[in-house]
Amino acid sequence: MGTDYVHGYTPAETRRLTDQAGTLADLLHGGTTYPPGSRVLEAGCGVGAQTVQLVTRSPAIELVSIDISEESLAQAKARVAALAEVDFRLLDLHELPDKKFDHVFVCFVLEHLADPVAALVRLRGLLKPGGTITVIEGDHGSAFFHPRSPRAQAVIDCLVDLQAAAGGDSLIGRRLQPLLEQAGYADVRAEPRTVYADQNLPHLVDGFTRKTFIAMVESVRERAVAAGLLTAAEWAAGIRDLSRSAEPGGTFHYTFFKGVGRT
Ligand SMILES: C[S@@+](CC[C@H](N)C(=O)[O-])C[C@H]1O[C@@H](n2cnc3c(N)ncnc32)[C@H](O)[C@@H]1O
Repeated sequence: MGTDYVHGYTPAETRRLTDQAGTLADLLHGGTTYPPGSRVLEAGCGVGAQTVQLVTRSPAIELVSIDISEESLAQAKARVAALAEVDFRLLDLHELPDKKFDHVFVCFVLEHLADPVAALVRLRGLLKPGGTITVIEGDHGSAFFHPRSPRAQAVIDCLVDLQAAAGGDSLIGRRLQPLLEQAGYADVRAEPRTVYADQNLPHLVDGFTRKTFIAMVESVRERAVAAGLLTAAEWAAGIRDLSRSAEPGGTFHYTFFKGVGRT
């Protein structure tokens, strides 16, 4: 993935990941706690937005958080410094040394990888017998909204197509269960975690519809226009229409998937 990370390593993306983690904390992390003393690996920690949740919900774990972006790791370190001691490492998850962990946590990383099964197999090799993996991914095909608009759908499709062209899969959520099975995990369970936002849920309209989802789509504007997927005018019209789902009378729906397996 490296520098071809479709959302980019920018201040806007840092803000987006932070808003996403804060707004969706209970939805995504509900059911995920690790006993004190557990050795936990967070693969692809980014700017530490989920790391904060991990150390808050499971204090006294021994957490190793890795990423391939030095800049993101520096931000993660600063963000978590006052909360807990985390062993942050600049490492590719495919090249981790054979140290064993009780649990592995992966959030929004597989969608960017060309071979997610290979990554899951590698992570399985790092788990102690009986150890667990928890994987959280989105699925942009689960986004539907009111008012319905083909122009808004077209900007979302640009993100899906650009991520696929970069070797990723933004529709990966629906595949979590088979991916974990293929990678050899036992007792695999996958479940949808749905976000629904309307004007009676203003924190979700702002934190999710606007600052997470629409912000994510907007992050690929330059690439989409440069690739000729849409004209600048079509892009602007699509974003305008999509933004109506965050206005009074609009609604927005999205489903994340959370999968758990063990060795
Ligand atoms: C969308 S961000 C998610 C970050 C964090 N998990 C979160 O939910 O806020 C994906 C992160 O995965 C990292 N990443 C991608 N491929 C990786 C690899 N092979 N090994 C380790 N980290 C990787 C990227 O650098 C990026 O920071």
